[in-house]
Amino acid sequence: MSIFASVPQAPADPILGLVGRFKACTAEKKVNLSVGAYRTAEGKPWILPSVAEAEKMVISDTKLDKEYQPIDGKAEYKRPVQELIFDADVIDSGCLATVQALSGTGSLQCIAQFLKFMGVTKVWGPNPTWGNHPKIFQRALLEYDMYPYWHQESRGLDFEGMIAGMQKMNEGDCILLHSVAHNPTGVDPTPEQWQTIVQVCKERRLIPLLDNAYQGYASGDLAKDGYAQKLFTHSGLEFFIAQSFAKNFGLYGERIGYIHVKCASKDAADAVLSQMKIIVRQAYSSPPQHGAAIVNKILTTPALKEMWLKELTFMSSRISDMRTALRGAIEAKGTPGTWNHVTDQIGMFTFTGLTKDQVVRMVEEFHIYMTADGRISMAGLNPGNVDYVAESIDKAVRGL
Ligand code: LMR
Repeated sequence: MSIFASVPQAPADPILGLVGRFKACTAEKKVNLSVGAYRTAEGKPWILPSVAEAEKMVISDTKLDKEYQPIDGKAEYKRPVQELIFDADVIDSGCLATVQALSGTGSLQCIAQFLKFMGVTKVWGPNPTWGNHPKIFQRALLEYDMYPYWHQESRGLDFEGMIAGMQKMNEGDCILLHSVAHNPTGVDPTPEQWQTIVQVCKERRLIPLLDNAYQGYASGDLAKDGYAQKLFTHSGLEFFIAQSFAKNFGLYGERIGYIHVKCASKDAADAVLSQMKIIVRQAYSSPPQHGAAIVNKILTTPALKEMWLKELTFMSSRISDMRTALRGAIEAKGTPGTWNHVTDQIGMFTFTGLTKDQVVRMVEEFHIYMTADGRISMAGLNPGNVDYVAESIDKAVRGL
């Protein structure tokens, strides 16, 4: 009799579990639209050429060793990553507490623990949101609730519902926002709507937490995709950012990202940093070095940075082309319903609007792996499979 006999088998992860199922699938025609990871037009993972170049430089850099990094990451690596979000005067003010962390999820994990530590009791996230979000906050023993976000009829943003939901939040509650390219819906507030959101955060005295996982993926332009972050920065609010480099550098497996806490003063930032370091030290001691060194090489080598910015445009354009192709192919079949949301939505995902049953058919019968909420990763589409996907959506919708 095992001491683990009472441990129940857990279900597979709703997103990453699909990757395993796709790999194990022996069907001749199969498509992986599950996890949000970039694929080439040939359906292959892509090491960004800027990353490949930087990696060579990192490996041959004799100044780099394999010592532990500082608990909050190397001090000299911080400014280049802060510059992707903040203006020089904000960085120079010393009001930012910046900590290298384990990509987006690891950053959120530390932020959740910090929220608990500072006495926050409740976090509000959009309905729907990335499946892992609620669990991360609940694990930190925070209450988690949802505010309206998705409007099913228009397949767009339920802005009125969202603002009404925010009006119900209490002072000191944390509001989780996706700073760009909302996952899973691909629907973002307009610049004007963001202004209202910031205003309501101020009025309600909320603590904003921006999950920045897709900067550069919506428009290809870091500044444009950084609009909400800039707005929050200049609002005078104190807030958190979880910055992931998984998608925009294609460094998924390197687990590289940063926490930024915009504070009202340098003293506050220093204190926040000191406490964040305690959380990191107890959780995993210090962050991994390789991905951080790659990102730093790219951001501090002008030719590589230029290359990377072009790669961002290239990846976001390919996804945008796939949006046009998928919508065109579905509309050409006269599939019931409206399909403008495929091209209206932005970022890596389309929230198709397929029902649970239709999704089951897509996966079981057509071997098109997608999440149960009807989300597809547009990066998994390519000229070789887009017609098959459109044909399968058509059959699923018509119930053929
Ligand atoms: C996704 O939503 O597919 C990505 O954020 C990858 C993940 O870890 O779930």
